[in-house]
Amino acid sequence: MQTALRTPEKADYKAIVAWISDKKACSRWAGPSVPFPFAAANLPELLAVEGCSSYCLSDSDNRCVGFGQFWPGKQGAVHIGRIIVSPEVRGSGAGRLLCEKLIAKAREATGASTVTLRVYRDNPAARSLYSSLGFSVIESESTDDLLFISTTVNRSRKAGA
Ligand SMILES: CC(C)(COP(=O)(O)OP(=O)(O)OC[C@H]1O[C@@H](n2cnc3c(N)ncnc32)[C@H](O)[C@@H]1OP(=O)(O)O)[C@@H](O)C(=O)NCCC(=O)NCCS
Repeated sequence: MQTALRTPEKADYKAIVAWISDKKACSRWAGPSVPFPFAAANLPELLAVEGCSSYCLSDSDNRCVGFGQFWPGKQGAVHIGRIIVSPEVRGSGAGRLLCEKLIAKAREATGASTVTLRVYRDNPAARSLYSSLGFSVIESESTDDLLFISTTVNRSRKAGA
């Protein structure tokens, strides 16, 4: 799949609204602060987190097929959130591409070597994806429902030193 990360536009938020089927899906994607239903026009404001950057994954027709954000995390890490892929294309590699590109962008933008995320324990698709991307669970920061996961890049190895 030919994809790129780009800044979301109005039409993209309209597309994203259609991916959220109910209150539970909304809360699991965006957290309890985002009400359901919501208007596409309000989504940028509803998803705002201090210092956050939002990105769409677009396909070869420039159609938005995924969305995610990053913002400053704990202890110099960068935190990724609100990861979602259009139900129409799930299972075809878009989630992996979105995460790989978003993580690279987050590291490049912030210089952080550690990337963190929160994922529901009962979300096997997302857990399997994050595990295959090298994230591991930090139980001390996790709750009964949500796992706190993290991955750290070895900068000296990355530079070939
Ligand atoms: C989680 C999500 C982003 C994955 O996107 P996707 O495009 O379906 O994922 P991909 O096709 O790139 O698959 C990547 C990996 O995810 C895992 N995965 C995807 N769908 C899966 C499923 N139904 N069951 C188990 N694992 C699954 C696999 O490890 C897969 O790797 P593989 O293809 O090598 O087996 C997508 O299901 C989604 O948007 N879910 C709703 C929102 C959500 O839960 N977001 C996560 C918030 S933390």
